Amino acid sequence: MNQRIEIGVADRVMTIMMNRPEQKNALDHQMYAGMADGLAEADAREDVRAIVISGRGDAFTSGNDIADFMQPFPDGEPPAWRFLSAILRAQKPMFCAVNGAAVGVGLTMLLHADFAFAAEEATFKVPFARLGLVPEAASSLLLPKVVGMAMANDILIAGRTLSARDALQSGLISRIYPSGDLLSETMKTAREVASLAPTAVARSKSLIRGDRDRIAARIQEEGELFAAQLQSPEFMESASAFLQKRAPNFD
Ligand code: COA
Repeated sequence: MNQRIEIGVADRVMTIMMNRPEQKNALDHQMYAGMADGLAEADAREDVRAIVISGRGDAFTSGNDIADFMQPFPDGEPPAWRFLSAILRAQKPMFCAVNGAAVGVGLTMLLHADFAFAAEEATFKVPFARLGLVPEAASSLLLPKVVGMAMANDILIAGRTLSARDALQSGLISRIYPSGDLLSETMKTAREVASLAPTAVARSKSLIRGDRDRIAARIQEEGELFAAQLQSPEFMESASAFLQKRAPNFD
């Protein structure tokens, strides 16, 4: 039982809730594993025809747990890699209801979601370069396609924070709701999509997504650089600075 990831199924919709609000739903290895398991279960179950991912508390997710990142990875395939593969290969339509801050993988997972809706207060940022890291989840390939090269550089390298309105204008999300309505409105649309002809929906999703092998190859390429950066003095300084609440020093 993974209490930091809550999974439920109702009306043909699987809900995956990140539930670690005191750490802004920062994702540790166990949470990535729980989400990957949930997505695999959604694909296997005939009674699930749509997936909704959201977060408890005032954040969607603050991304990878930075303290976890500083520890050696567990043996075998890292759970974060398994999660990225699961969102890439998901057969069922995936919704993200962004209820607050979406940081790092909180933003990059939206590039694999079929529907991304957000609360008015939501914010979006990817501090990879600021942390001495590189893009992941094929965001170096997918984000420029969604928002254009100039904005992608602003987000992926400069670490610009977008408001919900910025995210809507740049095509990262398609709807904004008042925060009290976000989950119910997302569930409503998810139930509607779940009631449509499943093969038509799955084939439409696959056509719109395009060549998943090409995206998988970019995830792999980024992953190798990301793993190398995780071992670097640049990352150690950035992560220590975050945990010590000070500015990093690269001099
Ligand atoms: N990993 C580990 N701990 C994290 C975290 C993360 N990714 N994000 C937040 N936390 C912790 C904070 O250290 C803080 O812990 P504390 O209560 O022991 O001091 C707690 O969660 C609350 O975070 P705080 O920063 O005080 O909340 P906020 O509302 O002011 O800001 C965010 C929320 C998400 C905007 C901010 O926490 C943030 O930017 N986090 C960094 C995200 C990041 O760099 N992620 C890495 C992506 S690769």
